[in-house]
Order: sequence, then structure tokens, then C-alpha cells
Amino acid sequence: MAGRIPKPFIDEIILRTDIVDVIDTRVPLKKAGKDYKACCPFHEEKTPSFTVSPDKQFYHCFGCGAHGTAIGFLMEYERMSFQEAVEDLARRAGLTVPYEGGAAPAAEQGTDLLDVSREAARYYRAQLRDHPQAVRAVEYLKERGVTGEIAKEFELGFAPDGWDNLLRALGKDEAAREMLARAGLAVKKEGGGYYDRFRNRIMFPIHDYRGRIVGFGGRVLGKEEPKYLNSPETPLFHKGRELYGLFRARDAIKREGRALVVEGYMDVVALTQYGVDNAVATLGTATTRDHLERLFRYTPEVVFCFDGDRAGREAAWRALETALPALHDGRQASFLFLPEGEDPDTLVRKEGREAFLARLATATALPDFLFGTLVKQVDLGRMDGRARLVELARPLLSKLPHGVLHQMMLERLGELSQVNSEKLATLVVIPDAAAPARQEPRSTAGPKEPPSVARLAIAMLLQQPELAAKVPDEGVFADLDLPGMALFRAILQLLKTIPNLNTAAIIEHFRDTEHQAHLEKLAVWRHPALEHDVGAEFAGVIEQFRRVSAKVRTEQLLQKQRFDGLTSDEKAELAHLLSKKRRLDDFSSKT
Ligand code: CTP
Ligand code: MN
Repeated sequence: MAGRIPKPFIDEIILRTDIVDVIDTRVPLKKAGKDYKACCPFHEEKTPSFTVSPDKQFYHCFGCGAHGTAIGFLMEYERMSFQEAVEDLARRAGLTVPYEGGAAPAAEQGTDLLDVSREAARYYRAQLRDHPQAVRAVEYLKERGVTGEIAKEFELGFAPDGWDNLLRALGKDEAAREMLARAGLAVKKEGGGYYDRFRNRIMFPIHDYRGRIVGFGGRVLGKEEPKYLNSPETPLFHKGRELYGLFRARDAIKREGRALVVEGYMDVVALTQYGVDNAVATLGTATTRDHLERLFRYTPEVVFCFDGDRAGREAAWRALETALPALHDGRQASFLFLPEGEDPDTLVRKEGREAFLARLATATALPDFLFGTLVKQVDLGRMDGRARLVELARPLLSKLPHGVLHQMMLERLGELSQVNSEKLATLVVIPDAAAPARQEPRSTAGPKEPPSVARLAIAMLLQQPELAAKVPDEGVFADLDLPGMALFRAILQLLKTIPNLNTAAIIEHFRDTEHQAHLEKLAVWRHPALEHDVGAEFAGVIEQFRRVSAKVRTEQLLQKQRFDGLTSDEKAELAHLLSKKRRLDDFSSKT
């Protein structure tokens, strides 16, 4: 396969990069002892448990267990591919990535999918302008009140009718066609060959939060089914994560202090056209926790907009259930129910911006929606009705994180049910997972079983690679067949060959192997033997290896002596081993 990045280059990148800089520009860090800290960007928290170690060049969150190298951070936080992350760090370091075989970047990487998606968007845009069939599309958009200006702003396009328009334009060779398929833009036929996924549709490019096109939605011009067709899940596109319009709405959301979540592409387009530019849409799926966490990065308040019909109320209830665990103090969610048969698109066009904003101001706060819905299901005039209310509310309230909101909701439940809220508190127990303070750190605990010596030795080497220099070069316990010894030997060998590797660089050597996850855990493992005077502990471990190794070898030779006899070299070796053993025995009996 062409385009692999040579290992020594990864080493160099890791050594030339400071993970503290890489993270600090994205998540501002504060110095704390020899490490740096911040509130974790990968889960919600109030007190910083996200730690970056300049020594290990490794980050780790004691709250949620997220961890990795600078490369891993970019992959996780910026959602870059491995190759993109290496490219990014190389640029910062002023280096050029030397692909093996001098070939261009490997075909299946994310960058290329991004390129293809961008090219396709440009193609669809051009068709909306120039293609003879586009007259109908333009007419359709005009009929719906979409101005040319707003169409341009949302980069709307047109996929002409036919099976291979895009394929002919961008699928020059088999590799390019394969890439179109991987980007979800073409479909591979069973018998071979490809066809365009999007045909005779108005195309809505979907940008990720950084403005890169990762997918598309396509709408039919008339009444055909399905009305909308979306990109399938691809390495770039995950419906449960992306929100249509987020990139362009980002600043408005921050400015307004509020994000509006609607259901449709056209809703976002229409609202924006009318100057309501803090709206985003889910992509034909229910709102997910990922969606919410993404929005709460920009604003403490999210307003969900739903139809007033039953389906809308049910969808709102699902959104409520998803939102509850995300409602740490200060965060708010509200629900705006629209008149039946209307959606934000039709409503804002009918009533205009001011009337729509006035509606928005009347949105129902989540606690009101929650209790309002439950109260309708019970008879508060009866004792058993009030008990039922408590039972209905219990699983919902226990989803809320600890905090003021939880407390206030309990009090509200107390008022409604006429049960003392302190008693209620014992009924509505918040599970540990929702309570950050009592949260079991996921990966610091390290391996569950008692640590084997090899595992400790690996952790020591990983956390303080300079220890490798203390191990004599000759015969690195080749006969030792303990669990973990092979990996220990591999790391030792690596450090003997490339002595200046740091923790992160060692781990990068094992990326995409069975050992990666294990090593990442050991890199941040806290064990008494890894905290104080690790040098002496390590020497002790090595001595233990040597002794066991000598014993194994001695027994081997004795065995051989008995059955086959020994060569003169082996005899000498055995004599040496035995005399050494005697010396050690004498030594230990004297102490
Ligand atoms: N949707 C989808 N696939 C469908 C139907 C809908 O992915 N077959 C998603 C689209 O994101 C769409 C949203 O659900 O924008 C809302 O669908 P719907 O209410 O049916 O349509 P509208 O957004 O009102 O579409 P339009 O106004 O264009 O008719
Ligand atoms: Mn609509």
C-alpha cells in the first residue's frame, strides 16, 4: 500500500511537538505542579481533571478516562484522521511528511474524502447555475421563497437526473470512483460499477462545526419519496453528531446565548433568511447527547422547536429524556411548540421575524414541560395519584446531575406530591455515574488483577523511558516466559535502538496493534512502585527477572545434562550459573 508514514518520522514529530502547546490553543491549560490542567473537553465537568503531562507528552482525564498523545488528541478533538493529525503537527514543526515510496497520501484517508465532498459540492452548485434541468430546481426554490442570496450562502446545489452525472464529472478512474462511493456520493453495484446516489435533487451540503463539508442532504423537487435522502454514515459523516447549520450559526449562538434546534434543512434556511440565525437542525434523527454537548460548548441554553401535534410532543419528550443528564448547573433547555401543521419555515414566512421571536420567548422551560406532562397523567387530588406522580418523576429526576436544578426539581415534586422534599431525596437517588465528585475514575485504576512484575516493568519503562539505559544489553531475559515479557522485551529493544523516545513516542510505535490500549492505560497507571524512587524499584524488578531467568536456564541445562549431556560451552555456562547462585544464596543467608 502506498503512502505509509515511516515510523522514524512519527518519532520525530512527537519529539518536536509539545503536546501542551497543541492542546493549549484549543483548551486553555493551567500549570499545576509539573503537569497542566483544564476542564475536560471530552466530558462535562466543573473541576479540572483533564491533565496534560509535558514529560510523558500524554494527556489523560481522571474523570472520563480520555487519554492519548498529541496525535491522538487531534484525532479525538478535531476529528482528524491519523494522517491529517501527523500532517498538522508536521506543518507546525516545519517538516514535510515523507510518504513511503514517495507516493501521495493513502487514498482512503479522511483528507481525501473531504476533498471529494468539497469537489462534489462545487459540482452540484455549478449544476444549479448551469445545468439545463436546473430551471425546475430554481423555480422550486423560488416558489418556496428561497432567495438566490440565501441559496448561495447555504451553498445549495442541484444533482441532475441520471445515473452517472457526478461519476462522469469526478470519477475519472477506478480509484476516484471508489472514493466517491466511500464518500457516500456514489453507490457500488453488486455486479460491479457505480451509480450516483443523488439524482434529481436539490442538494444541501452539510458542514461539520469547523466548516468542512462532510455530507449532503438531497430534496426531491416534487412529491416523490423519499422526500429527503441523506449521505449514509461514512468515516466523515455521523448523523448523530452533526447538526445542519452549526458552522454558520456558531457565532450567532454565542452572541444570542441560545441555540434553536429545529427539525428540517428548510427550517434553518428560512429562519436564517429572516434573520433568526442561531438555528440548527438534526438530520432526520432524534437529538442525541452528542448533539447537545456540542451545542452546550457554545451556549448554556438550548431551545427545541417541535410541531404541536402528537408526534411533535413525543419527539419533544425524547429530547427531554436525552437532555436531562446533560443539564449541569447553569444549563437550560426549553421547548417551543408550534401550531399544528406549521414548521419554523412556514411560520416565519407567514408571521415574520418579530412574531417568531415573540413565540420563542414563550417557550416552555424543561421543568415545566416535565411536570406539566406528568401531572396530566395523574390525579393530584388523591393520595395514590400523588404517589404515582412521585413514581413517574423518580426515574427522570434521577437522570439529572447533582446540583441546584436537581434540588429545585425535587422541591417542586415535593410541592406537587405533598411529600417532604428531604424524604424525596432519599427516594430519588442519583446514580454514581451522574455524580462527577463520586465518579469512579475509569482508567487510572489500571489493571484489576494484582500487578504482575512484567506489567509493572512495562509501566516503569513507559513512564520513565530513560530507565532502559540501566538494563545491560546482553541477553534481555530471552528465556523468561512470563506473561507480558514479550511486550516488555519489545519496548526495551525499541528504547535500546532509539534511546530518546518519550512515553508518547513509544505508544505511537504500537498504534493500531493489540497493545495500544493496554499501553495507554499503563502510561497513566498510578501504583506506589511508580510514584517514588522508580529507579530503585526498576533495578529491583530487573534483578528479579535476572534471577528467575538464571533459574530457568539452570534447570534447562541440568535437564539436558541428565539426558543428552552438555557441550563444553554449556558446561561452562552451567558452572557459572551455579557458582553465581551459590554466591547469591550465601549473600541472602547472611542478610
Ligand atoms: N428527513 C429525512 N428523510 C426524510 C424525511 C425527512 O432525513 N425522508 C429529515 C430532513 O432533515 C428534513 C427533516 O427530517 O429536513 C424534517 O422533515 P419533514 O418535516 O418531513 O420535512 P421539512 O423539513 O418540513 O421539509 P420540507 O419543508 O422541505 O418539506
Ligand atoms: Mn417544512
